[in-house]
Amino acid sequence: MTDELASIDEVRRRFDAHDYLADEGMATAVFLTLRLGLPLLLEGEPGVGKTAAAQVLAEVLDAPLVRLQCYEGLTANEALYDWNHQRQLLAIRLAESQHQQLTEADLFSEEFLVERPILRCVRYDGPRPPVLLIDEVDRADDEFEALLLEALGEGSVTVPEIGTFTARQPPIVVLTSNRSRELHDALRRRCLYHWLDFPEPERVVAILRRTAPSASAALIESAAQFVGHVRALDLEKPPGVAEAINWVAALSALGATELVRDVVVATLGAVVKTPDDRELVLESLDSYALG
Ligand SMILES: Nc1ncnc2c1ncn2[C@@H]1O[C@H](COP(=O)(O)OP(=O)(O)OP(=O)(O)O)[C@@H](O)[C@H]1O
Ligand SMILES: [Mg+2]
Repeated sequence: MTDELASIDEVRRRFDAHDYLADEGMATAVFLTLRLGLPLLLEGEPGVGKTAAAQVLAEVLDAPLVRLQCYEGLTANEALYDWNHQRQLLAIRLAESQHQQLTEADLFSEEFLVERPILRCVRYDGPRPPVLLIDEVDRADDEFEALLLEALGEGSVTVPEIGTFTARQPPIVVLTSNRSRELHDALRRRCLYHWLDFPEPERVVAILRRTAPSASAALIESAAQFVGHVRALDLEKPPGVAEAINWVAALSALGATELVRDVVVATLGAVVKTPDDRELVLESLDSYALG
């Protein structure tokens, strides 16, 4: 697997072939993650390409992507495994109707086991290890992190009723966080860490070219520049790459060929997401040279 991405440059080229333009830091982080077999923790503002990086990594490696979306209250039942209670009930009824009795061992067997992302990765038996994306880990609670550490550390999942499943080949793990809260030191220490910045203007232009090939170079350049201007204002929700992409799509949908005030105002909803931010951006238009 690591042979496939033999250098940092190759990581960059392969990501590029999947329309993800990684900078040197990102390509290095991915290369080292594969080389060292450590989980990669990607932190950064919203919309800077954290989730997409994991998705593209799976594509590049031609490996399945297993995604665990984190949220407050996420438990082991959603992350590791669960039991198919409905099927258990049905089995009990069926057995009763045939005057048979099911034992606990019958009911808590593989037949009724439901794989959740982490167990799915541990039991995965394909030619290449899966990419396990633990998305927005900062949204889950502390207790979940402890559980995660254990699973990552041991590369195995124990189902007390059945036994311990150990990964034949450990998954490639990518965690993302928006930094809505601090992660535990123990989790940080276990991972390779990369902070994703909003890309520099030339890279934004290059990304927009890929996503909107029919938009004119001039429109894309002025849009990228304007997004930079907006990001420099003191906004509550500064636009990320995602917003820049949507904005150029919106501009194209309206047939815009250059940035003029009317069209900027009409499409601002693709870039600015709160009334206060909208107000600030509108005010800034007076002193910004459009066109
Ligand atoms: N370097 C890049 N090259 C190509 N596309 C990119 C790049 N960075 C971001 N994008 C695009 O920007 C969009 C947003 O990216 P993504 O959803 O991965 O951001 P995120 O950091 O996970 O955001 P959030 O924190 O909101 O989940 C996607 O469409 C992604 O393809
Ligand atoms: Mg994301």
